[in-house]
Amino acid sequence: MVFIDVKGARKEFNIGVSIIALKDVTFSVEQGEFVGIMGPSGSGKSTLLNIVGGLEQLDGGAVTVDDMDIYDTTSATLANYRREYVGFIFQQFHLIPTLTAVENVCLPLMLSGLPGDEQLERAREVLDWVGLKGLEDRLPHQLSGGEQPRVAIARATVNEPLILLADEPTGNLDSTTGEEIMKLLRRLNDKGTTILFVTHDQRLGAEADRIVRIKDGVAHE
Ligand SMILES: Nc1ncnc2c1ncn2[C@@H]1O[C@H](COP(=O)(O)OP(=O)(O)OP(=O)(O)O)[C@@H](O)[C@H]1O
Ligand SMILES: [Mg+2]
Repeated sequence: MVFIDVKGARKEFNIGVSIIALKDVTFSVEQGEFVGIMGPSGSGKSTLLNIVGGLEQLDGGAVTVDDMDIYDTTSATLANYRREYVGFIFQQFHLIPTLTAVENVCLPLMLSGLPGDEQLERAREVLDWVGLKGLEDRLPHQLSGGEQPRVAIARATVNEPLILLADEPTGNLDSTTGEEIMKLLRRLNDKGTTILFVTHDQRLGAEADRIVRIKDGVAHE
C-alpha cells in the first residue's frame, strides 16, 4: 500500500532568475521501505527530501503521506505532520554547536510534554543505541566526523518518527564509517521506520531496497 505518494512535484527557486529544482517528480514509497535517492550534484535530491518532509512550499503537483495531502492542509496539520511523522538528518547535520550531544538529541522532545528528566533519559538511551555511550556531554566540535552523524541520527529518531529522511548521512566519511552509519539506518528500518536516504555512493545505494534516480529535476526508477 502506498504510504508516501509524490505526484508531479514541481519546485522553483527565484533568486532574480528562476531555478527549476524539481521539474516533475513522481514516485511512491510503501511503509517500511528503505529507499535510496541518487543523482548528480544539483539534480534536486535535497529539495526532494525537504518537500517530502514538509519543509518547503510546492509549486505544482502534490505530496500525500498516509492519505494526508501535506501541501493542501492547515499549517497546524502540516506542523503536526512534521513533528509526528518525520525525522530529518540534514546534509550538514545542523547540530547546535553550543549544546551538548544529549541536549541536541533532546530538542525534538521539548514539545512532547515529557518531563525534563525523562527527556534526558530517553535521549541518553538513543545515544547509547547509536554507539555514543559516554560521549553524551560533549559539544559537537568535540566529536569526530563519524560521531557527529550519529548524534544527528539520534536526534532525528528520538521521537520514533514513522519516516526518516536522511540527506547524505554518510557525507564525507570514510567507507568503513559510512558502512557503520548504513548499518544503523538498516537497524532502524528493521524496526519498521520507512527510510529515504540520499547518497552519491553506488555501493551504499546498492544497500537500499530500491533506488529512485533524479536527473535534472525528474525522477526515474
Ligand atoms: N534555497 C535555494 N535557493 C536557490 N536555489 C536553490 C536553493 N536550494 C537549491 N537550489 C538549487 O536547486 C537545484 C537543486 O538543488 P539541490 O540542493 O536539491 O541539489 P542536490 O541534488 O541535493 O545536490 P547535492 O548533491 O550537491 O547536494 C540546484 O540548482 C540548486 O542550486
Ligand atoms: Mg543535496
